[in-house]
Amino acid sequence: MGVEVTVEGLTKSFGSQNIWRDVSLTLPAGEVNALLGPSGTGKSVFLKTLIGLLHPEQGSVIIDGTDITQCSAKELYEIRKLFGVLFQDGALFGSMSLYDNIAFPLREHTKKKEDEVRRIVMEKVELVGLAGAEGKLPGEISGGMRKRAGLARALVLDPQIILCDEPDSGLDPVRTAYISQLLIDINAEIDATILIVTHNINIARTIPDNIGMLFRKELVMFGPREQLLTSEQPVVKQFLSGDRFGPIGMSEEKDESVAAAEAAMQAAGISGGGTADDFSEIIPQVQPNPGMPVRKAAIRHRANVLGMLHTLPENAQHAIRNSIAEEDRRAAESPETSTTLVALSQTDFNDPNARFTGLPGGPEGVYVAPTDVHGNTAASAQTDVVARPDMAKTAVAQQPAGDDAFTQPIDTSAIETAIIDKSNGQGSNQA
Ligand SMILES: Nc1ncnc2c1ncn2[C@@H]1O[C@H](COP(=O)(O)OP(=O)(O)OP(=O)(O)O)[C@@H](O)[C@H]1O
Ligand SMILES: [Mg+2]
Repeated sequence: MGVEVTVEGLTKSFGSQNIWRDVSLTLPAGEVNALLGPSGTGKSVFLKTLIGLLHPEQGSVIIDGTDITQCSAKELYEIRKLFGVLFQDGALFGSMSLYDNIAFPLREHTKKKEDEVRRIVMEKVELVGLAGAEGKLPGEISGGMRKRAGLARALVLDPQIILCDEPDSGLDPVRTAYISQLLIDINAEIDATILIVTHNINIARTIPDNIGMLFRKELVMFGPREQLLTSEQPVVKQFLSGDRFGPIGMSEEKDESVAAAEAAMQAAGISGGGTADDFSEIIPQVQPNPGMPVRKAAIRHRANVLGMLHTLPENAQHAIRNSIAEEDRRAAESPETSTTLVALSQTDFNDPNARFTGLPGGPEGVYVAPTDVHGNTAASAQTDVVARPDMAKTAVAQQPAGDDAFTQPIDTSAIETAIIDKSNGQGSNQA
């Protein structure tokens, strides 16, 4: 399973230039996350801080229980093996062929024999559509090809955490769609925690489970994708619509006189160049290709989101309920192609007592409310589990007992067990 990354109170400056301060967020294990923000707000610096290439003045970055801002060089070296990183500029060695660039982490971090290295390298080369170009030097290929080579290199160690700095920059829209699909498929396959830095609104709308945004040296928000996409905050709305009118200017601080002049233009009906698209209309997330495993993180994400639902703004709550209903509707329509979706549960949020909701036409399985070991249904269940009744028993039995059982986050590992068994088509519980 992917690794949770917890950032707390992180502050980074270069000399007297503060880049961002007091950034706190958690990239939940195995979930796909996106970080947005105007150019120069420190997204790449944030990525490099997560892998310990840059050192913050304050705060912590906890990965797999280790604070990498405090650990020894040796510990950091070990932790780095968990990461696959696609740097913004690709960061390929200019004097090495693409093949050697992509093979580099395998030769550096593993004792694999050359024929095994070749098998893995060629597999990744094909995955990113570079077959035939592996003998070329980085200087002999296009920018988009370099980007894809960088991604292939980021993937060779089957990383548990994948950081991608603008995977789409330099790529045409079709290749961007392929790369996005690839990231979702990889997430389904290895349950890696993914952070994508991007300016691409289409990616932001369809790929991540969670989205954050940096602006004016702060993390404006970080949460379920519906929260940002339905946000009323002017900076978020402006960024999504790509309009020149709003708090974001050409340079970091927008001049007051410029802002006033623009407001007048806007009032006069002059276009700021942005799109009129309604981003609060949540479009479905990209799903793994048919034949790929269930995206386990999607299941955990749903449990997480339901747990925090009451803390979110009303329009985000509304959007999340609609997303879930839409996911379930699609799952019911074509269970065989919606592997992730059929594993997800359906929840009637409006009725505190109704825990059992059938999935019309769906696969076998029941919706089970989490109950404590005594069989009491939680007063406010945070999630429902879809599983065969015999499997669900295990999920339930592993919940903590006692009065505070459901003030604790649900132990989703138990839920996972049930769902994995189900997706394997096995009739009996493994536990
Ligand atoms: N090694 C460094 N030394 C000094 N300043 C740096 C260093 N790296 C980045 N910066 C500064 O940090 C700020 C944020 O840079 P960063 O590259 O993180 O922006 P970004 O959000 O990734 O922008 P873009 O969207 O254009 O890629 C910039 O002002 C940059 O000049
Ligand atoms: Mg950058």
